[in-house]
Amino acid sequence: MYRTYRWGILAPGKIAHKFAEGLQFVPGAKLQAIGSRDEVKAKMFADQYHAPVSYGSYEALAADPEVDIIYIATPHTFHMENTLLCLKYGKAVLCEKPLAINSYQVETMIQAARENDSFLMEALWSRFLPNINRAKELVESGKIGAIKHLEADFGFKAEYDRHSRLFDPALGGGALLDIGIYPLFFALYLFGEPSEVESDAKLAATGVDESCRVKLTFGGGETANLYFTVTEFTPVEARIEGDQGEINLPNRWYQPVNLASTTEHGSEDYVMDFIGNGYNYQAAEVMKCLMEGRRESTKWSHHDSLQLMRLMDKIRQQCGIEYPADHTGR
Ligand SMILES: NC(=O)c1ccc[n+]([C@@H]2O[C@H](COP(=O)([O-])OP(=O)(O)OC[C@H]3O[C@@H](n4cnc5c(N)ncnc54)[C@H](OP(=O)(O)O)[C@@H]3O)[C@@H](O)[C@H]2O)c1
Repeated sequence: MYRTYRWGILAPGKIAHKFAEGLQFVPGAKLQAIGSRDEVKAKMFADQYHAPVSYGSYEALAADPEVDIIYIATPHTFHMENTLLCLKYGKAVLCEKPLAINSYQVETMIQAARENDSFLMEALWSRFLPNINRAKELVESGKIGAIKHLEADFGFKAEYDRHSRLFDPALGGGALLDIGIYPLFFALYLFGEPSEVESDAKLAATGVDESCRVKLTFGGGETANLYFTVTEFTPVEARIEGDQGEINLPNRWYQPVNLASTTEHGSEDYVMDFIGNGYNYQAAEVMKCLMEGRRESTKWSHHDSLQLMRLMDKIRQQCGIEYPADHTGR
């Protein structure tokens, strides 16, 4: 039995298109309204995805009583401000990853969600994908024995543009917050909190990381070697090694892809039964939580977002990456 939840999209940029496509695969989800700084752009996006209402400001969207949940898709540095606005109007919020640019901001957002008795979740879409969860289930089933190591990368070549979201420190630029978040999340999901973090970054002329290597060590001696970059295309694969075999997630492992395991008994392929474009799973999770009267997801909780952000804070500290907004509001 589904009830209808009315969604609003705040900032109809690139990823918002993917989200709107995905939402069409979620039973009970209705795209109700779009909010952009540009009224014409909001209307065009609304028409494209058959949303009945559009606004030329984020506040007008947040204030709309016909909207239940707002998906926030601005650049990282605006996530806190936009989330606080939506929470103020009592909306449930699904905010793009990274939830903010540092743990101080994440703590502020969690506090605001509690004070407003509203739902808040980071749109870490991979956490809700069937392949990622199948990998975790296989690990827990003992399929490859005791897990010892994770190897994961995420790299693509972006044109250097000091004013772009990827390179501008004022927009929270750098590989770490944009794509490094995926291998880091996967390591935390598999092993929990690391006991040691060693990282090294190559900085772009703007001072943000264009490439970064991270080695994590966990309590039982397990390790993770992670690499992410916006300067070159890399295999974008993940390999989980156990003492009796390995699990392989092929190219674009953080997206909906199939996976395989190899042990001394042979190899097995796991063909996933995906629905939609993958972005639908996180939206379905928000609605499930709301239907159950919960204010956060147990699958990707406030604590999980905070732990991930604290790890990224630590990496930034080790690599000397600072954002102008780091000290704002403290
Ligand atoms: N889950 C994923 O797979 C995935 C993939 C890509 C990006 N993301 C995340 O989504 C967020 C947005 O990324 P995107 O690639 O969609 O960015 P984008 O195409 O640049 O869109 C961002 C939107 O934010 C609004 N905005 C407000 N203030 C802005 C400013 N000062 N500069 C630029 N835009 C501003 C703009 O919308 P209006 O002008 O209409 O208000 C713009 O269209 C990022 O936090 C990123 O990490 C997630």
